Amino acid sequence: MVANMAQDILIAVENVHKRFPLPDGKEEFTVLKGVSLTVKAGEVLALLGRSGSGKSTLLRIMAGLIPPSQGRVLSEGKPLRGANDKVAMVFQNFALLPWLTVQENVELGLEARGIRREQRRQRALKAIDIVGLDGFESAYPKELSGGMKQRVGFARAFVLEPQALFMDEPFSALDVLTSENLRGEIDDLWNAKMFPSQSILIVTHNIEEAVFLADRVIILGSNPGHIRGEVVIDLPRPHDRNHPRFAALVDYIYTVMTNPEIKVTSQVSTQYEPETISVTSSPYAKALPHVRVGGISGLLELIVDQPKGTDDIPRLADRLQLAVDDLLPSLDAAVLLGFAEVAQGDVRLTEIGQDFATTTILRSKDLFRQQALTHVSVLNSIVQTLREKRNSSMRADFFLDLWGEHFPQEEAERQFATAVDWGRYAELFEYDASEDRLYLPEVKTETLVEC
Ligand SMILES: Nc1ncnc2c1ncn2[C@@H]1O[C@H](COP(=O)(O)OP(=O)(O)O)[C@@H](O)[C@H]1O
Ligand SMILES: [Mg+2]
Repeated sequence: MVANMAQDILIAVENVHKRFPLPDGKEEFTVLKGVSLTVKAGEVLALLGRSGSGKSTLLRIMAGLIPPSQGRVLSEGKPLRGANDKVAMVFQNFALLPWLTVQENVELGLEARGIRREQRRQRALKAIDIVGLDGFESAYPKELSGGMKQRVGFARAFVLEPQALFMDEPFSALDVLTSENLRGEIDDLWNAKMFPSQSILIVTHNIEEAVFLADRVIILGSNPGHIRGEVVIDLPRPHDRNHPRFAALVDYIYTVMTNPEIKVTSQVSTQYEPETISVTSSPYAKALPHVRVGGISGLLELIVDQPKGTDDIPRLADRLQLAVDDLLPSLDAAVLLGFAEVAQGDVRLTEIGQDFATTTILRSKDLFRQQALTHVSVLNSIVQTLREKRNSSMRADFFLDLWGEHFPQEEAERQFATAVDWGRYAELFEYDASEDRLYLPEVKTETLVEC
């Protein structure tokens, strides 16, 4: 886009923090920490992060729908108070009103802005035409396919002719072909300079989507959500998926997203220097990736069959027909347990990982136990706690509370469930659901013998 236009800052986020109260009402859960970024005129900006990293929360704050706990958002240099009417939103779940027709859904926002009836009608018809829904004006949402519903979602945003269009994972509820189609059409409109807004901000967890659509990709880290850096997509538009640079950028971003320690740089070809890892005091503060042991070993078995036990992550995701979001937790788990290493978009099994993927069940349990005790501090800590108890057992609540100091209730429960899955497989401890207690395995055996 035009160079001088690209310097106009439409929206600026300055040191934004967001905290939500934890269920106990006393403590707070930090979702976003110290986030600063700008949206410039003439650019497509992607906000890329894993699920739960606070992308939707950030987008809502930037649109003025919810206030930050700290920091501020400026729209054309002026602090935002309430909803920003220069911004329109497209949501993942379409958010259409089922009792209104396509035309009425599209007109809704204009009505709220006090636009007269005839003008509303004209503008809505034009927007409906742009998204290719000509002829469906009087259809109701339930009569439309998912892809068509999202076209209405786009028309409803387009009709407002917003300065910036915000999209929250707009293609992720659609099947692969439909989303591919719609994504391509949105990109075509933008490249043809027919797009009804000056800039686009898209939230996504899909790396290829970000590299395909965006001029600039901002990478969010998790727990709490923070900006790790940005990668400039230095490709001519439209971005060609077959361009070697496209693959290099995707590989680089995969590597960054599978290694929280890597410092993000836009010098994609350079070697990355891992930053010193900050050590958190409590083992319960470090989130376990939510995957079952079966998922980890299944993945390792797939990789071990590849030449040199190495696989290209985007290709692996493709073979498994998995979205990034579904593959990354398994990779994280494999790396955490020391079974795999990730570098430059490749995953490579370590010697122990290869052993684990090919040996007998009995020995793989031993390997898993050994790796879990040495690499996963929270499992080690649970075992230590149980060993200190005279009856080698402890109420599950006790552990849930420890997680609850760092995560909201729901996430604390998921952490517990994952730890129990791993701990049980490794025969480190057992969980008795009826008594809601964890105990060391030998205790149960002794009790059984006594009976
Ligand atoms: N209104 C809320 N109250 C409490 N927690 C919330 C609220 N909204 C979001 N969260 C929490 O904030 C975190 C980030 O959520 P979200 O912004 O939806 O992430 P993303 O869009 O990246 O998946 C999640 O842990 C979620 O549970
Ligand atoms: Mg979201």
